[in-house]
Amino acid sequence: MPIRLLSATLIDQIAAGEVIERPASVVKELLENALDAGAGRVEIDVEQGGLGLIRVRDDGVGIAAEELPLALQRHATSKIATLEDLEAVASLGFRGEALPSMGAVARLRIVSRTAEAPAGTELKVEGGESGQAQPASHPPGTTVEVRELFYNVPARRKFVRTEPTEFGHILRTVERLALAAPSVALRLRHNGRQSLELPAAHDAVSRDARVARILGADFLARCLPVLQDGAMQLSGWLGLPTAARANSDGQFWFVNGRAVRDRLLGNAARLGYRDVLYHGRHPAYVLDLRLDPRLVDVNAHPAKLELRFRDSRAVHDYVFRAVERSLAASAAGTGPPSAVLSGAAPQAHTQRFHFDALPGDAPWSRSVVGAAAALREIEPAPFADAAPSPEERPLGSAIAQLHGLFVLAQNRAGLVLVDMHAAHERVLYESFKAQHAAGAPAAQRLLEPIALSAAEHEIDALLAASGDFARLGFELDRLAPTQLAVRAVPAMLAGADLPALLREVLGDLAGERGTHHLDGAAHRVLGTLACRSAIHAHRRLSLPEMDALLRQMEATERSGQCNHGRPTWAQLSLAELDRLFLRGR
Ligand SMILES: Nc1ncnc2c1ncn2[C@@H]1O[C@H](COP(=O)(O)OP(=O)(O)OP(=O)(O)O)[C@@H](O)[C@H]1O
Ligand SMILES: [Mg+2]
Repeated sequence: MPIRLLSATLIDQIAAGEVIERPASVVKELLENALDAGAGRVEIDVEQGGLGLIRVRDDGVGIAAEELPLALQRHATSKIATLEDLEAVASLGFRGEALPSMGAVARLRIVSRTAEAPAGTELKVEGGESGQAQPASHPPGTTVEVRELFYNVPARRKFVRTEPTEFGHILRTVERLALAAPSVALRLRHNGRQSLELPAAHDAVSRDARVARILGADFLARCLPVLQDGAMQLSGWLGLPTAARANSDGQFWFVNGRAVRDRLLGNAARLGYRDVLYHGRHPAYVLDLRLDPRLVDVNAHPAKLELRFRDSRAVHDYVFRAVERSLAASAAGTGPPSAVLSGAAPQAHTQRFHFDALPGDAPWSRSVVGAAAALREIEPAPFADAAPSPEERPLGSAIAQLHGLFVLAQNRAGLVLVDMHAAHERVLYESFKAQHAAGAPAAQRLLEPIALSAAEHEIDALLAASGDFARLGFELDRLAPTQLAVRAVPAMLAGADLPALLREVLGDLAGERGTHHLDGAAHRVLGTLACRSAIHAHRRLSLPEMDALLRQMEATERSGQCNHGRPTWAQLSLAELDRLFLRGR
């Protein structure tokens, strides 16, 4: 075939393919346009999974009658004019591609009216052919209808899935944008049935409510408010390890208010959870990163879902540390709530989640308190004695051991239950880590080396991480393909059942390579060591021993969760106990 120019229609259809992949892409583009137009309320109606009809109606600034035809032309936009504008763009749209793309692959009708105009103006586009603008009645704002998506591109239609699947994509798209723009009221209907109705959220409490509606009340009860300042800012809701899920559906990222799916950000957050999440669990969170727009290239993906950071290393490190630091605040008893409240400057609490924050916003602390109350109900007793006693401590004083598994303690709020092994394991793990990080820990040379036989691949795996073992104080070498000599061990393990412990480490390293912990061999080994050395079930503890454990927990970062992300302790408040016994009724 000779080289020839494509027809204008075909060019537009090809270009549309980049922007409109499926019905949810239409919803995303229209909703973003409504948000860019400053809408206070957006109503979305969808029929047949978006293949029959998508109608988005907003009460935003509208489009002037004389500009309406231009809105449907490719490369026409009101959002940027120069390259400098593009480099610092704050609006969600900037290409002038969305509406014309829809016009190329669907039957489109747009009606819009500005506040000043006496009436609205309507325009229809079919197969890329624009009709004549006509007067039409419409309140100030804009309605866009997209019917019979892909009616003229059968090949594309074949890639569209079932109605429920496509509607699922639409719902998730709307939810994501709803989290990015909490102050905008949103309603979504499918085939006439209401699917989502979100009132405008102008304060912390109603923003929490929106998060609960989208991620579940369970998430809200198990999350920490994040607020980290610095060269950049990270804010939002960070799910505790106990809120982790089997997939990444609970992860929402926003960069300067723009909903994105970005591998770098996901990885950085994941790394921040490395010490508290194991076994392929996925953390849940809603996080908004704010940074100078000039440091982000939003023009790097046809659907604007991915970004490019000018300094990706810096972003990665900032996010990783911010997440890690926020989670570390969750030591048992000292909760994240008090840490956040006392640690951050008061004005930091008025940090808004989105650029559309309004005057009169309730401070962050209210959501902090809300989450805290659900997390653990430690309320100061009204007639508490001023003199400090063990009961004044967050985890109280030990009173008994239950079935060799739990420590019972009494604090001001009521009863504390501690999972003895899980808590001790975490305390040890954190202390091993600290020693490991501090440099060469004390090693103890064995008078007589321990000889261990193991499968060849197990020993291979162990020796592959020999640097980490050396840093921990181990001295290992191979005697034969299936024989290992242990000549020195970390002093902190003196007295442990070393052969059994090493066998465990071997199996762990060879068996679950990379899946057990989220990063290197060192942490894997430390985790196994902590687990093996922690007090085991049915060991009798004296009250002073139990108290010592409680105090260690209070002093240890992340001790609110065990190394596998389960909680290590729980509080039963006096109010809950009263309820249990129907007292005071
Ligand atoms: N809901 C709306 N309310 C007010 N103006 C709108 C609305 N939707 C579109 N417009 C106007 O029409 C123009 C074209 O919209 P379109 O979505 O095609 O491009 P864009 O938003 O500028 O860029 P992008 O292609 O990145 O979305 C916009 O720049 C805006 O001026
Ligand atoms: Mg747009």
